[in-house]
Amino acid sequence: MVSKLSLSALALTVFPVAVRAHIALWDEAMFGWEDDPNQSNVVTPLANMAFNDWWLHGPDARNKPPKEGKFMELPSGGVYHGYTSCNKQQSKFGTIDKEKYATIYACKSSTDNPADGTGAMHTSDHWGDPNPKDLKGTSIAIAYESDLSKLTPEMFSVISVNYTSVWFQQTDYHIPSDLPACPSGGCICMWSWVHSIDAGSQQIYQNGYRCKITGASGTRSLPAPQIAKKCHYPTDTTNCTVGPKQPHYWLQNERNNNFQGHYDPPFYNGDYGFMDGAQTDLFANVAAVEPVPETSTVALSASSTAIHQELDSPTASASSEAAATSTATSEIKLPNVSAAAPSSSNPQSLLKHLSPQQESQQRTSAPAARLPEAESADTGVSEELSEEDASVVRPVTTRPSETRRAHPETGL
Ligand SMILES: *[C@@H]1O[C@H](CO)[C@@H](O)[C@H](O)[C@H]1NC(C)=O
Ligand SMILES: *[C@@H]1O[C@H](CO)[C@@H](O)[C@H](O)[C@H]1NC(C)=O
Ligand SMILES: *[C@@H]1O[C@H](CO)[C@@H](O)[C@H](O)[C@H]1NC(C)=O
Ligand SMILES: *[C@@H]1O[C@H](CO)[C@@H](O)[C@H](O)[C@H]1NC(C)=O
Repeated sequence: MVSKLSLSALALTVFPVAVRAHIALWDEAMFGWEDDPNQSNVVTPLANMAFNDWWLHGPDARNKPPKEGKFMELPSGGVYHGYTSCNKQQSKFGTIDKEKYATIYACKSSTDNPADGTGAMHTSDHWGDPNPKDLKGTSIAIAYESDLSKLTPEMFSVISVNYTSVWFQQTDYHIPSDLPACPSGGCICMWSWVHSIDAGSQQIYQNGYRCKITGASGTRSLPAPQIAKKCHYPTDTTNCTVGPKQPHYWLQNERNNNFQGHYDPPFYNGDYGFMDGAQTDLFANVAAVEPVPETSTVALSASSTAIHQELDSPTASASSEAAATSTATSEIKLPNVSAAAPSSSNPQSLLKHLSPQQESQQRTSAPAARLPEAESADTGVSEELSEEDASVVRPVTTRPSETRRAHPETGL
């Protein structure tokens, strides 16, 4: 077994292209965008730098704002088609010798050996592999601020992740449907990448963009983003940060928000609680203060029945005010989960709205629907929950096995 250190050194030696060619997400609204179709100065990785040098790819990029009227357009509830490549020339923005530079992958080999170019992609996967396994994900984050001089790293919330990036040149980012509109001057967005330790030295990638949410219908401001904690989404979410998460600021001399060691980088995937696609938990912690919507659904009646039972029980009546408040949380949340259904193409994403605490509340507040024994037991409780009600609650109980499929590494 080759040690991580020597493997990494080997990768650097074998793929000299990795030293100069790296990756950026190309969009005309990028800070640092130049008219040169052969541009590659914004792809350089960031490590061991002063804040001024790494922040939004340093002063050269920050001092070159995008042209008037250029925005990275992120469609609410839709998909942003991003172009990630080593050189702008290899993307759809290239104009020189398109045939020569064309590739479906993020980078094209500069030698006759097509495998060489993967060095810049920092993965042990090989081109043509139908099932690459060493990709660690990239993200798009947003800050509701137009003025670069007022912006701080702590203002960015990751809104979309693609676990299987960087790999193909075209990378899709699903945008949440509950984001509010940006101010008239636009928001500022950030693309970030932290790659696998298997191929190349450790670093982060970060570029800034002027952006806006098109068709935005969200009315609530995003809650303050928190630091993304290491965890095992979706198999064990105990340590996961729920709600908006900041991008990883790692391995710099200043202003890090992540202090993982060199060989345990923070990724944009389930290892840090990120979902693959739109981040649908952005408002998961604020719904408790909302009024109960009047819409009467089966889910509402099933859940409130269960909750009232819990409140009537001796344990619940003896519990503190805080417990009553958290019970109210799940009462309010459940109708919202079903109300959100039409806006989501993925039924699993509905379940992702729930924090671990809320999930466990659901489990404890709907015992009759969960336990087969309870269904047949001759008690008033199980009679009150009809089969129909139980089926509404059931998806929550199937969550672990259904979502396990999505785990990037275990594939379970
Ligand atoms: C594009 O830029 C690279 C250096 O970044 C240079 O090696 C190459 O010759 C340039 N290609 C063209 C067509 O200008
Ligand atoms: C990630 O991007 C690829 C294209 O490179 C796309 O096929 C895939 O659906 C995207 N994944 C998500 C979760 O959006
Ligand atoms: C929880 O997250 C913190 C911050 O990322 C991390 O240092 C710690 O190891 C995590 N704990 C567990 C049990 O994973
Ligand atoms: C909950 O539902 C109400 C009414 O449909 C809506 O106004 C509110 O934005 C929803 N909240 C969440 C968290 O989806």
